[in-house]
Amino acid sequence: MIGHIVGILSILLAANLLISEGQVHLPVYGIINQEVVLRLPVDQTGSGLEMYWTFQSIILAHFSNNQMKIINEKFMTRLEPSDSGTTLRIHNLTMEDAGIYAVSVHTAGRKIYQTSYNLTVYEPVPSPYLRTEVMGYRTDGCNVTLQCSVPSHPSHLSYTWKYRHQDQEYQLYDSGSTTQISLAPDHQDMEILCIVHNPADHKNVSSTLQEICSDHANSPDIEKGIYTSY
Ligand SMILES: *[C@@H]1O[C@H](CO)[C@@H](O)[C@H](O)[C@H]1NC(C)=O
Ligand SMILES: *[C@@H]1O[C@H](CO)[C@@H](O)[C@H](O)[C@H]1NC(C)=O
Ligand SMILES: *[C@@H]1O[C@H](CO)[C@@H](O)[C@H](O)[C@H]1NC(C)=O
Ligand SMILES: *[C@@H]1O[C@H](CO)[C@@H](O)[C@H](O)[C@H]1NC(C)=O
Repeated sequence: MIGHIVGILSILLAANLLISEGQVHLPVYGIINQEVVLRLPVDQTGSGLEMYWTFQSIILAHFSNNQMKIINEKFMTRLEPSDSGTTLRIHNLTMEDAGIYAVSVHTAGRKIYQTSYNLTVYEPVPSPYLRTEVMGYRTDGCNVTLQCSVPSHPSHLSYTWKYRHQDQEYQLYDSGSTTQISLAPDHQDMEILCIVHNPADHKNVSSTLQEICSDHANSPDIEKGIYTSY
């Protein structure tokens, strides 16, 4: 009988270990100097709830009776709870704030729920500008190489190109910092947009091919033209 109970206990312990090892951290992305919100994914409001928030397994704050006690010096002025402690706002993010945050919810001393977040902090995306080069301009069309550039190069940037005619929806066109497009003169009202993004932020720049190609049309003796638009 005792052996049986021990057996069940060790199965429970093993299951518990497996759950914590295989725990999925909810991904959360923040931008330096801005704020991020960690929110319980399930409704856990109720009276008598206590919550412990941790950062890298160190207790950050304790929430009970609608009061938050911040325990970690580094976060002293930067944490703001709301919704009965089920939402935690972290202000003025720094790179050092990146890591695993967890919250455990207790009632009458018993843990009823736990979740964790993997916060990654990124630099804001710089404003991009377009550098365009007309590769070939003839009466039957305009062939342009577009380069989407940013003045600085924080890591994790990616590029998406979209286009649209007048007020229609944007259509996906290409990815990568450089693209090429060729259009007949009656299609040059097309707007082309470059979105620069990381998981936390994005900025865009756009231009119409008309703007790019018409400068060239006015001086057809130039074979190639390089323009920069902001
Ligand atoms: C966040 O930073 C700004 C400017 O750096 C400062 O004015 C503000 O008091 C800070 N907020 C908190 C909550 O620390
Ligand atoms: C947290 O997320 C980052 C990227 O967003 C990843 O590289 C890292 O491995 C994750 N950490 C954990 C413990 O899951
Ligand atoms: C534009 O011109 C370049 C160079 O002449 C050529 O390689 C490319 O295929 C053309 N692109 C399109 C979309 O026509
Ligand atoms: C481009 O950026 C502006 C703000 O600068 C934003 O209002 C707009 O929604 C963005 N457009 C797209 C398609 O992302």
